[in-house]
Amino acid sequence: MLDERTPVRLIGMSGSLRAGSYSNAVLATLRERFAGRADIMLYDLAPIPLYNQDFEGDKRPAAVKAMLADIAAADGLVFCAPEFNHSIPGVLKNAIDWASRPSFQSVLAYKPAAVMATSRGPLGGARCLEHLKVALDSCLVRVALAREVIITACETKIRDGRLVDETSLMFACGAVEALFGEIAVRRLDTAARG
Ligand SMILES: Cc1cc2nc3c(=O)[nH]c(=O)nc-3n(C[C@H](O)[C@H](O)[C@H](O)COP(=O)(O)O)c2cc1C
Repeated sequence: MLDERTPVRLIGMSGSLRAGSYSNAVLATLRERFAGRADIMLYDLAPIPLYNQDFEGDKRPAAVKAMLADIAAADGLVFCAPEFNHSIPGVLKNAIDWASRPSFQSVLAYKPAAVMATSRGPLGGARCLEHLKVALDSCLVRVALAREVIITACETKIRDGRLVDETSLMFACGAVEALFGEIAVRRLDTAARG
């Protein structure tokens, strides 16, 4: 089991750069909700340049190197993405592309993660979540098994930058609890291998 005395280090990423982002509001709510058990760093992807395969390895831009180091040091990731054109926001996909290299041996490989999606519409989010899971699967990310978290009509469930809808919050917290379980399994695996 996880040592409850040591907070788990998590990185929260949304892919929205918008000041009033609903997705970032969900991550901020989770950061507060799990304070003491987890340190959730809300990651700013604005400084991450567009992916370019000419700049891999040592040639990676400084902001990308820093992001990779932060991901490597984290116990897990919490993704909460808005749906953009029935898919993942380009900002988030770009960050995943940088972090995915070298393929299958990247900082993302076997990294536990929780995934969730937001949408202003009554139907949106599900397609983004599916695409996100496919992309993370290709990077060997361990997405924690949990009930799907799709926060539709999010503008009615978020007030003053916090998720206030108890049902949505219950699902989101369930995904983070599942992530804790995945991290515990990973730590046991690592300890068993010596
Ligand atoms: C370029 C763009 C594409 C969008 N496409 C969709 C979509 O396909 N489905 C959907 O439900 N909402 C879509 N939306 C609405 C966003 O999900 C909504 O604006 C959301 O609040 C943005 O996330 P944020 O609040 O975290 O910034 C789109 C918004 C933008 C700007």
